[in-house]
Amino acid sequence: MTKLKIALQKSGRLSDKSAELLREAGIHFPNDGSKLRTEASNFPLEIYLLRDDDIPQYVADGVADVGIVGLNVVAEKDKNLKVAERLGFGKCRLSIAVPKNEPFSGIADLNGKRIATSYSRIVSRYLKEQGISAEIHEISGSVEIAPGIGLADAICDLVSTGSTLLTNGLREVVTVMHSEAVLVARPDLSREKAELLDKLVFRLQAVRKARN
Ligand code: PRP
Ligand code: ZN
Ligand code: MG
Repeated sequence: MTKLKIALQKSGRLSDKSAELLREAGIHFPNDGSKLRTEASNFPLEIYLLRDDDIPQYVADGVADVGIVGLNVVAEKDKNLKVAERLGFGKCRLSIAVPKNEPFSGIADLNGKRIATSYSRIVSRYLKEQGISAEIHEISGSVEIAPGIGLADAICDLVSTGSTLLTNGLREVVTVMHSEAVLVARPDLSREKAELLDKLVFRLQAVRKARN
């Protein structure tokens, strides 16, 4: 029997809510986060727990058929995946922030500056569109520390509550994109898998209607 393979974030902001959403959709699977591969008992679904940053690649390669991941990661990895459904949780924005006492009168102030980010593709594209030429420093985490240690003049990172910016003496000046958790799929799914995906999406939509 054909099964749909879904990739979820192993641990992080989206992991609990992703599993919760599937469970609310009536899909039963073992609740053991240490097992990286598991199966649902009442829906043809195989579940893989992966690092969120790796999910677009795994889906593009066909290791998984679909995945739940932040739209920001989907955009950054740029793997030509289809957004099958926006899931309405994990809402945040990808924003540029500067030291809180630094004057900032507009995007043009970033000309010639160094920007630290884990989202170099999105940021480069955005700056290009805005006609800004800045130096991008790719770092994979703790980006907010960069201005304080003299590594960058500004950062671009996810903001949810804003408390990480506040703690690090930064203020948000430009929103580059809005993000939330999305269900992504490979564009070339077999017919059987596309049908399973439709069933899954139908159930997820039912959960969201019931929640509202
Ligand atoms: C994210 C993001 C920010 C922080 C923003 O990091 O990279 O650092 O959350 O959230 P806040 O506005 O509510 O403070 P996360 O904790 O997910 O870790 P990561 O950067 O290692 O992925
Ligand atoms: Zn991550
Ligand atoms: Mg972070």
